[in-house]
Amino acid sequence: MEKKRTILTTSSRGINEDSLPFRLYQKAKKFGVWNPSDIDFSQDAKDWVALSDDQRYEVLRLISQFQAGEEAVTLDLLPLIMAIAKEGRLEEEMYLTTFLFEEAKHTEFFRLALNAIGEKGDLSIYLTETYQKIFYELLPNTMNRLIHDASPEAIAEAATVYNMFVEGVLAETGYYTFYQSLEKVGIMPGLLKGIGLLKKDESRHIGYGTFLLQRLISEHDHLFELVVNKMEELKPYSIRLNEESSDLPETTFGVSREETLNFSLKQLSIRMEVLARARGKKIEDIYRLTEKEVGVIS
Ligand SMILES: [Fe+2]
Ligand SMILES: [Fe+2]
Repeated sequence: MEKKRTILTTSSRGINEDSLPFRLYQKAKKFGVWNPSDIDFSQDAKDWVALSDDQRYEVLRLISQFQAGEEAVTLDLLPLIMAIAKEGRLEEEMYLTTFLFEEAKHTEFFRLALNAIGEKGDLSIYLTETYQKIFYELLPNTMNRLIHDASPEAIAEAATVYNMFVEGVLAETGYYTFYQSLEKVGIMPGLLKGIGLLKKDESRHIGYGTFLLQRLISEHDHLFELVVNKMEELKPYSIRLNEESSDLPETTFGVSREETLNFSLKQLSIRMEVLARARGKKIEDIYRLTEKEVGVIS
């Protein structure tokens, strides 16, 4: 027989308003409501035609990989939300409703940018072999496992792949490349504006993933090793993704491939350092973590 449900909000417990997930939910209601269709891409359209063919190729590859990535994370988040809801973790689920909404907006944002610069054709050539391995197989398989296996191990693996690797390493490296390329030469302001807003939303997503992993590690210490091993297993993907981007040491915007790779690998080690701090912490302290401690920028 199913266990009788517990309603939290009519109990003396109420809502855990001081908990990090609830604070993230409050932040998301304030900062996560920017509207992609309010962004003006008129200058971007002008800048786009003035670029060289090689520059257009590079920027379009990056936008295409982001576009496909945002679509994938929008479609693949639901099993995690379901797993959290089944455990009755109300504050976490309240935050996750904003998470999914924001991913949908990011998907819309990149599509609007592509439309504005007139790139309406098939962009699948930009989704390289390693890219497909990550977004067509690894991410959906890891997330869909949660539908039939919501064990702490499976949730920890999902948060590692989704929040730590895809958002925390791959997307962060993408923003770095966008800024190094476009901001330095002062072009495509609409695209950069949206990326700035999106990056803030993503800092809450990664912040939640960090909280979730810290909570799981604090409850089941052996999960730390599982996360470390998973991150090690994922490392070669970021190296290969970088290799597949070009044969040249620098992009046409002068961004060094080696520096980009170093940035990526640094993100990996930062994520692990933050998680290592959870070991031995009491569960109450995990709930009281500050936004800053999990890297939330707004
Ligand atoms: Fe996103
Ligand atoms: Fe995200």
